[in-house]
Amino acid sequence: MRKKIVAGNWKMNKTLAEARALTAEVIQLAKAELSGQASLILCTPFLYLHEVNSLLVGTGIAVGAQNCSEHDSGAYTGEVSAIMIQSLNVPYVILGHSERRQYFLEGGALLAKKVDKVLAAGLTPIFCCGEPLEIREQGTHEALVKKQVEESLFHLGEDAIRRVVIAYEPVWAIGTGKTATSQQAQDMHAVIRQHLAGKYGKPTAETISILYGGSVKPDNAKELFAMPDVDGGLVGGASLKARDFIEIAKGI
Ligand code: 13P
Repeated sequence: MRKKIVAGNWKMNKTLAEARALTAEVIQLAKAELSGQASLILCTPFLYLHEVNSLLVGTGIAVGAQNCSEHDSGAYTGEVSAIMIQSLNVPYVILGHSERRQYFLEGGALLAKKVDKVLAAGLTPIFCCGEPLEIREQGTHEALVKKQVEESLFHLGEDAIRRVVIAYEPVWAIGTGKTATSQQAQDMHAVIRQHLAGKYGKPTAETISILYGGSVKPDNAKELFAMPDVDGGLVGGASLKARDFIEIAKGI
């Protein structure tokens, strides 16, 4: 069976003290109210990874980074490499988030390099794809998402692709309060899985977790997660409140 995952993407939010408090509250609520149906991941700013990871020891909850460099080391001021992330025992790295694509001009070829670095460091990439509103309105959203997946993942061999988690995040649903309907999410997830099956075969495609992201909230999570190809969520705003994050995880 595919791994069910609920990952919080904290983006550029929280002070250290707030990060500690949020982590403590997530731990406490998860322990009291969840029974391990989903793997929980907290994707914090780089600065807090070490601290949050230490707080999470023994809880079964994992941490993740939100980006990494395409280089291993060297004169790249301000950058953080997959090897550095690995040295903190952080197992996950989000790559290709639409905010990175939009504001930092990250494209498919660069993301392919980052995917390689993350896998080479023994970590799991959470690879994001998703179309902007105008592309959906033009009706070319499936073609674009397939292209995003191809450009950055299709150079991988079968063993490597099995180690990737994919997150479908339609840009028009991120931070807007406008969620994709569960059917829209399912349709795109099925397209992604079929595309993977075309390249790697159905048995491999069936092992890959595909998360949905974009205004996931406690009141829509259950319906989204009930869809056959939706294996969990990548949660932005609602992951900043422990109660909401835990309620979303209960939707698995
Ligand atoms: P929101 O849940 O705030 O819409 O953000 C989604 C997202 O970008 C997660 O990576």
